[in-house]
Amino acid sequence: MTEQVILDCDPGRDDAFAIALAIASPDEINLLAITAVVGNVELSKTQRNARMICEICSRSDIPVYGGADKPLKRPPVHAAEHHGVTGLHGMEVFDPAQPLQSQFAVDYMLDTLAAADAGTITIVAIGPLTNLALAMEKDADTFARAKQVVIMGGAGRAGGNITPAAEFNFYADPHAAAKVLACGRPLVMFGLDVTHQVLGGQDEADRLSHGGPAANALSGMVLPINENGTGKTHSPLHDPCTFAWLISPNLFDAKMVNIEVECDSELTMGMSVVDMRGSSGRAPNVLWAHDVDGPAVVDLIIRRIAAI
Ligand code: BDR
Ligand code: CA
Repeated sequence: MTEQVILDCDPGRDDAFAIALAIASPDEINLLAITAVVGNVELSKTQRNARMICEICSRSDIPVYGGADKPLKRPPVHAAEHHGVTGLHGMEVFDPAQPLQSQFAVDYMLDTLAAADAGTITIVAIGPLTNLALAMEKDADTFARAKQVVIMGGAGRAGGNITPAAEFNFYADPHAAAKVLACGRPLVMFGLDVTHQVLGGQDEADRLSHGGPAANALSGMVLPINENGTGKTHSPLHDPCTFAWLISPNLFDAKMVNIEVECDSELTMGMSVVDMRGSSGRAPNVLWAHDVDGPAVVDLIIRRIAAI
């Protein structure tokens, strides 16, 4: 069965690979539209980058909508150290021919969910969850028509990446993450516990550069940005894990658990508290991917993108 997907994202280098993987997988994924949100870089760049990646992948017909330009309550935080000031460090940015849609992303999402049969549209969310939370605030009943929400965000045993406690997408808008985790619809989450096992390095960059024209154009974004002398040789392919799961769920181990987000403490702001042992007594609300066959997922992502 082909999943009907609205992709909410903040491209971002690994977001670009997620878009490309979805486009490279038409048997499993039908990308209805992309909704952009502030995150790795400003909204003006995330929406442009989404349109650029569609054009590079010869899919300028996929409409791109602009959404929230700031988080629900906190000031924006970006991740230029991992993505560059353009958001797509490692490739030339350009002005895409495809225009941005005029409708607000949140309204597009709600209109589309309202028009489709209930339980038929999957939302894949790989940036801060602000657009989704705004949709819930505006019309929770319509949002609840989503089949499921597949999220890249959070961390359990891996600890944080933007702070010691928090993963970037949850830290960037913890109040939105908390709202979405309480939405009552099926939620599937891919946090740092698994994405830190899905690593791209020189071999993957080489495979892409020898692939099709889109793969070649994206190949410069695999390696980490080492300008600060970190000496890292690999970077996690966080966001494509969501689509890898939709394509091959057998490559992941997942368990229904309770996950809550810290929204009060400055020390642990945005921390996802993953109750693997059920010790909180709180009801499970998330199918949490806690383990993965990392090399197999990397191979799936690279093999599919290399073909386009
Ligand atoms: C997440 O943060 C962003 O920088 C990436 O695009 C990914 O969605 C990983 O923590
Ligand atoms: Ca992202």
